[in-house]
Amino acid sequence: MLKTKTEYKLALTEENFSNLLPEYLQKASKIYFTPLRIAQIATQWLTDDGKKNVLDIGAGVGKFCVAGARYSDSYFHGIEYRPSLAELGNTIIKQFEIKNAFIQNTNILDVDFTNFDAFYLYNPFFENLMFRAQLNNEVDLSGSLYGYYYNHTEKELHKTKSGTRLVTFHGNNYEVPDSFEKIKDAEGGSLKLWVKK
Ligand SMILES: C[S@@+](CC[C@H](N)C(=O)[O-])C[C@H]1O[C@@H](n2cnc3c(N)ncnc32)[C@H](O)[C@@H]1O
Repeated sequence: MLKTKTEYKLALTEENFSNLLPEYLQKASKIYFTPLRIAQIATQWLTDDGKKNVLDIGAGVGKFCVAGARYSDSYFHGIEYRPSLAELGNTIIKQFEIKNAFIQNTNILDVDFTNFDAFYLYNPFFENLMFRAQLNNEVDLSGSLYGYYYNHTEKELHKTKSGTRLVTFHGNNYEVPDSFEKIKDAEGGSLKLWVKK
């Protein structure tokens, strides 16, 4: 029997995703990129009340965006300030034949959060506090940038409309404004769903 086109799409598995990365990113993946199992839960929490425009704040090579786009019909927009990661992310999106995701190469400081109705945050700014273990040397890292980025993100999230969903994975949640209420958590408290009051 003839197979339909979708049956030929590259399966989204940890192994297939990892095989598309250079060796240094395969090694970093464990601490820098969301496991697919977590991405599946986060996508459900962000989108189970309807189709969303999701922003991944610090998208890396697009692993969360790829997973979210495969697991739902929402649109996943990633922001990544390292040019090489954003470029690779968009190549990977094409390799998985995904239409509902894109990685934009810019700094989160230049993004208008009001264009989105759901957000994902995997501790993107923490690298500024551990710059000896930095992912690569494409950006400047410092303790003062850490505070600058999380303060900015907190202010932008505060401007979003009531009902906006946010999932955080790890981190101290300094970016989450008081106007967001924690609804539930999983994975020993490292994965949290917040909703804007
Ligand atoms: C922990 S990784 C998470 C990647 C992705 N969200 C995932 O879960 O697979 C955080 C990413 O955020 C990016 N990042 C950090 N600060 C940023 C900023 N100010 N603007 C844009 N991207 C940033 C880093 O380059 C890194 O790729």
